[in-house]
Amino acid sequence: MKLWGGRFTKETNQLVNNFNASISFDQKFYQQDIRGSIAHATMLGKQGIISDAESKQIVDGLAGILSDIDSGKLPITDEYEDIHTFVEATLIERIGDAGKKLHTGRSRNDQVALDMRLYTRDEIGAVDAELKELMEVILRIMKENVETYMPGFTHLQKAQPVTVAHHFGAYFEMFKRDRSRLFDIKKRMNFCPLGSGALAGTTYPLDRELTASLLDFDGPTLNSMDSVSDRDYLIEFLDALSIIMVHLSRFSEETIIWNSNEYKFIELDDAYSTGSSIMPQKKNPDIAELVRGKTGRVYGSLISLLTTMKGIPLAYDKDMQEDKELSFDAIDTVKGCISLFKGMIDTMKFNKERMEDSAKKGFTNATDAADYLVRKGVPFRDAHGIVGQLVLLCLDKQISLDELPLDEYKKISDVFEEDVYEAISLKTCVEKRLTIGAPGLDAMNKVIAIYDDYIANN
Ligand code: ARG
Repeated sequence: MKLWGGRFTKETNQLVNNFNASISFDQKFYQQDIRGSIAHATMLGKQGIISDAESKQIVDGLAGILSDIDSGKLPITDEYEDIHTFVEATLIERIGDAGKKLHTGRSRNDQVALDMRLYTRDEIGAVDAELKELMEVILRIMKENVETYMPGFTHLQKAQPVTVAHHFGAYFEMFKRDRSRLFDIKKRMNFCPLGSGALAGTTYPLDRELTASLLDFDGPTLNSMDSVSDRDYLIEFLDALSIIMVHLSRFSEETIIWNSNEYKFIELDDAYSTGSSIMPQKKNPDIAELVRGKTGRVYGSLISLLTTMKGIPLAYDKDMQEDKELSFDAIDTVKGCISLFKGMIDTMKFNKERMEDSAKKGFTNATDAADYLVRKGVPFRDAHGIVGQLVLLCLDKQISLDELPLDEYKKISDVFEEDVYEAISLKTCVEKRLTIGAPGLDAMNKVIAIYDDYIANN
């Protein structure tokens, strides 16, 4: 069955049929399609556009189709052009003439606009839930590692000491922003296009407020031409997904570096690593690499949709059918990446000694040595120069600042006293950093309390 054909005198070319059809992918939102149709049929009945009996027959018929597809009893077959046709044809087959009234006052243009919106809204919720679970794991790791010292890096050079809690907290912040972006998108998109018809509304007395509220929207959209051709919310969602992937990809890159033989900061669990077919010693961080690799694919979907949309005249044009496959792929990819990444970090072990040792060795306390001099009255610029000379000396002797004898310190500046060792110890360097957002224990515990509150309330 086709939903059109009356004005045609020839069969459609088979290749055209194949090229035009979307059922192979738009069946993914059969639930949303049926949910939308149930709301539409309910409203048609309430408005007296169809009889109450017909409305009830349609709603019951659609509910039956939904549960039969859900249970696998009713397979979706490729002989139909799209999911809308499949559902309507099945309905007519099952309930007869009443089924032919479902599409009264509706076009596939507002129907697909609704389906895609409902699907996106549902998936925003699903991605949000995945992110929250990931953040719970990050928070657990933070709590366990408030005193696990490690080097903090800039330019991938050891810079100043931090803690694992502090480092992971940076990702907690990123994912918190990601969730707030999803929240914003959901709020902005939550208006119902149903009732916009093909592009110009309809002459039937539809109650658009009713369908909007039946489908949990905040109200109907206000311009029918925009309603059938707006895919901004999807572009925004793909943008938010791309930013999530930026964060996951950076996190993956660090996991790969930390897991390398040279660093050995962490060890990935066997269940989340893979081996090599030729090199028996290898344990590879494939999950992190794949997450990093899939990032390009998600960015690609955003650029594809932006490009598809940029030249489309108002209102609906078939180009918009292209919004689906790329979005479905991006959404599934991101959900999979978050979930696997969560499992990977949840099971990895931190090599605390190695991290602490690495923090000690890289002159990460050089700024603190300069600050020590500043506290004793030396101007910072001079202190910077003095410590620079000390670092040079240590490099020559292949020792750390902590290991340099006091008389060597004094040779360069007699301001140094025995208390310098306490001032530049790793613990002091971290613990003295007590401004909010810094790694010091009290500051970090305050932030962790805020995060606990966030998880409980968001
Ligand atoms: N498969 C179409 C899409 O995804 C559904 C809308 C069809 N509308 C039309 N006028 N042909 O956009």
